[in-house]
Amino acid sequence: QKYNIAIVGATGMVGRKFLEVLEERQFPIANCYLFASARSAGTRIKFMGEDHVVEELTETSFDGKNIDIALFSAGATVSKKFAPIAASRGAVVIDNSSAWRMEEDVPLVVPEVNPQEILKHKGIIANPNCSTIQAVVVLKPLHDHYKIKRIVYSTYQAVSGAGMEGYLDLQNGIRGEKTLQKFPHPIFANCIPHIDVFLDNGYTKEEMKMIQETKKILGDYSLRITATTVRVPVFYGHSESINVEFEKDFDLDELRELLAKSPGVIVVDDPKNNQYPMPIYAENKDEVFVGRIRRDESVPSGVNLWVVADNIRKGAATNAVQIAQKVVEYWENGQLAR
Ligand code: A2P
Repeated sequence: QKYNIAIVGATGMVGRKFLEVLEERQFPIANCYLFASARSAGTRIKFMGEDHVVEELTETSFDGKNIDIALFSAGATVSKKFAPIAASRGAVVIDNSSAWRMEEDVPLVVPEVNPQEILKHKGIIANPNCSTIQAVVVLKPLHDHYKIKRIVYSTYQAVSGAGMEGYLDLQNGIRGEKTLQKFPHPIFANCIPHIDVFLDNGYTKEEMKMIQETKKILGDYSLRITATTVRVPVFYGHSESINVEFEKDFDLDELRELLAKSPGVIVVDDPKNNQYPMPIYAENKDEVFVGRIRRDESVPSGVNLWVVADNIRKGAATNAVQIAQKVVEYWENGQLAR
């Protein structure tokens, strides 16, 4: 069985990675359609050994093509408008933007954590925020075992998370150029405690996404969570300091074992030999890396974790393709109607 696939935002940072990951995983594709803005119409992109021509995304793009799965990563405005159009033409949309994540009847899915949510979809499945994805892969087994009470997130996020323009701001900054396309301040040799827009409560939207999406994915709205998200001069790979407080007591070795056998998690935690996760080693990997695992000695039952993953892979493209693979699995085993 093969499927017709559409990529919306095919020329972008995540769009190109969708193609790479689909090819690596030998996703069963019949036809693949690539869409982007009018600026890119006619651009050729090589995929599975063949040249594909990018088309301008329009309201009729999904007509008559029998698209089974549409992977979107062209920003929230594009998703708000075009995801329902694609869904109404019969596609299952897997959307990487923030447009649909918090809608009640839209599943927000990380396949290692809550794959069964896919079964409730009504045409759109949301891919969570990059920083949230890597956190919940690690937090899920801990929540199941020790019941999390409170989480404090502090992030160190790569420029590629802000798309091609963010990437170029760092690259140009390294070359000594002063012009910026994306960030409000130079990012080279700097840290910017400002990702997405500021909200009335003083938090950024990125921080509120981490807080709200974590609760939705773990299915627990009683969790107390706070976050500070920071852009750092790293090209690929988000790092996160995660402080967690549990209801139950835990044994540190058992906790480490639990993480080591969790799907999608790799423990790198050998401080004596200078081994801990870092973005340069997470780049182009699909797993989430965790280290610096140590007791928070300031509370009765708490732990500190250092969590790193490739934000364009597990934080975006890989997670979306894993969702697509699950959708196909559910279609083929009859759990999900097509
Ligand atoms: P284009 O390259 O034609 O601008 P990134 O996050 O790396 O900046 O990528 C954004 C992606 O979203 C690109 O593929 C971009 O296409 C696409 N995009 C942006 N605006 C639109 C739009 N109005 N319609 C379709 N695709 C869009």
